[in-house]
Amino acid sequence: MPTLLHLDTSADPVASTSRRITAAFAQAWLDADPANTVVYRDLHATPPPHLPDSALHWAPALRLDREQPDPAAVAVQDELIGELMAADAVVIGVPMYHWNMPSTLKAWIDHIHVLGVTASFAGSAKPLEGRPVALISSSGAQYGPGTPSEGWDKGIPALELVLGSSLGMAVSSLACELTLASRIPAMAPLKERSEANLAGALHSAGELAVMFHAQVAY
Ligand SMILES: Cc1cc2nc3c(=O)[nH]c(=O)nc-3n(C[C@H](O)[C@H](O)[C@H](O)COP(=O)(O)O)c2cc1C
Repeated sequence: MPTLLHLDTSADPVASTSRRITAAFAQAWLDADPANTVVYRDLHATPPPHLPDSALHWAPALRLDREQPDPAAVAVQDELIGELMAADAVVIGVPMYHWNMPSTLKAWIDHIHVLGVTASFAGSAKPLEGRPVALISSSGAQYGPGTPSEGWDKGIPALELVLGSSLGMAVSSLACELTLASRIPAMAPLKERSEANLAGALHSAGELAVMFHAQVAY
């Protein structure tokens, strides 16, 4: 019974592009096998707190004597890590906010990236090694190769570092750009491309979900 952890972070509950695409991903996951399940967490509707104590960055056995985090904070962290560890695959909606990821997602990352637990410390295992994760980004403008804003996106690269390089997860990134073409008059000539981007992203998300399912089905 493979489980998908589906995280949304957009602050737009009505017309969010990333929510639309992650929903298409989750639907394709469910369609791939009736036994598949989805655990959903909306990090905007129910945001984790900012990391309340740096001790939480370390496994209990690696904490200093003075580092005694509040048990309530530990419980919040345990719930988020437990949910991630229990997932066979993960999809995350990543709207671009000020060239970066939403602060709610950063708070989630601060909770789940823990040395000696999810991240390797002194050669310890990476329990999430090879676990597939899809990053579905949406941005008002465009940042791809050859555009004037190439390289300005600081969100997806940071997530690729944390989830991919550090936790060892198998990261796939899917970007849907130019979402503001229908809202900003100066971008009106880009409307058609924006619509094509969305159609392409919805299609690719479905394909990616089926691919993830094939990788983890048991
Ligand atoms: C607070 C905020 C900051 C934003 N910053 C950027 C930005 O730096 N670059 C950009 O291209 N678009 C930016 N946008 C536009 C969003 O990236 C765009 O609307 C995207 O579609 C949001 O994802 P969503 O549709 O899933 O909500 C911003 C939007 C908001 C609300």
